Amino acid sequence: MKKQMNLVFRFLVVPVLFLALCQNLSFAQKNLPSVMPDRIILNATPDPAVSVAVTWRTDRSVNSGTCELQEVSPTKINSKDSKSFRAKTRPVNYVYENEPEISANQHSVILTGLTAGTSYLYRVGNGDNWSEWFEFKTPGTDRGDYSFIYFGDPQLGLQSEWSRVVRKAYQFAPDCSFMLYAGDIINRAGKDIEWHEWFKAGSHIFPTVAQILTPGNHDYKNGKLAPHWNAQFTQPTNGPAGLDGTCFFIDYPNLRLISMDSAAGSELEEENGYELTVQKAWLDSVLRTNTKRWVVVTTHLPFYSTKDSRDNALLRKHFQPILEKHKVDLVLTGHDHSYGRGRASDTPGLNPSVVYVVSVSGPKLYPAGTKSWMEHRGGNLQLFQKITVGENALSYRSYTASGKLFDEFRIERRTNGEKNFFEMKPARSEIK
Ligand SMILES: [Fe+2]
Repeated sequence: MKKQMNLVFRFLVVPVLFLALCQNLSFAQKNLPSVMPDRIILNATPDPAVSVAVTWRTDRSVNSGTCELQEVSPTKINSKDSKSFRAKTRPVNYVYENEPEISANQHSVILTGLTAGTSYLYRVGNGDNWSEWFEFKTPGTDRGDYSFIYFGDPQLGLQSEWSRVVRKAYQFAPDCSFMLYAGDIINRAGKDIEWHEWFKAGSHIFPTVAQILTPGNHDYKNGKLAPHWNAQFTQPTNGPAGLDGTCFFIDYPNLRLISMDSAAGSELEEENGYELTVQKAWLDSVLRTNTKRWVVVTTHLPFYSTKDSRDNALLRKHFQPILEKHKVDLVLTGHDHSYGRGRASDTPGLNPSVVYVVSVSGPKLYPAGTKSWMEHRGGNLQLFQKITVGENALSYRSYTASGKLFDEFRIERRTNGEKNFFEMKPARSEIK
């Protein structure tokens, strides 16, 4: 009898316990890919009126992917009415310290031949495994206003605490044309579990609204851009060589949007380094050839810091004269984990016209410093910004995570090109 019990234990109980343990481990590792598409995200192309990029992830067993696309219709969706786009599939291995290695396939496709101002449905997948249908709308023409959302660093507490900010922003602007990030999307470059949390936070918003991201220092590790960046995002490659997906421009109606990579080259520390010199020449050229009415530049490092102990003087020395020469309207940044907004210039006697903003959306928060460039400032606040672009006016509103208006201004441009700045909030708000 004892021998029988031993056999039962060895060949039944032990394997069952082992399988249960394995299952628990696999549940614990919540960032594993599967045959079902996940981490689906829309990214903007350089010409978003007629194209958009979609990227998603599966496990390695799914070695090809398709995106089906059709115009929005009020009747039952018939996948046979779709145009199919075959994705480029590439294997990735994400390794971070002693965390379990993540092996996945990333699928990326650019949907082309779209019509401006049109709503589309799409789904991604392969065989029997498909996502739900997502809807997006291409931007219209130069007539009519539209909005976009700008976030400072998400970085920490991505699923638990940043999620409320992206969801509140989406509530405020569900028809926004895109969401813009000024870097430090996660905290530890290459740490897949943090990307898992970020994608959870964005849920159905990321496949619905184009996400445009410039990297921060936390998106680089040992001077190298983390492998997730260009595997899970399909961003423009119209910047300088070696800065694909991080330095680029995109043309929306009445707006040229520019991402400058200030995290490259160890935060552009070398004055004569490649990343600094090549971006200077590039920035000057894309501003010289610009035909759009408004220009917004995003980059991670602030031109003017909100933190008393920080100063990015080299950034100003090399890039501010270019911004001023070409009358850039707005520079949206992050990094300092507090809020500051103001017009400033290092050139004595020049009436400053470029508006600089530092903001933060995640829960890593500091008080604002006391630097005099700030016309409006605040600390210990999770914020998002809704910016409305029109033919003759650019309206900027900053909201707290709880949806309260925190800062507001408006820039109007006359037909002769001259601009007027309108302060809509009392100067020097002192929330700390
Ligand atoms: Fe940073």
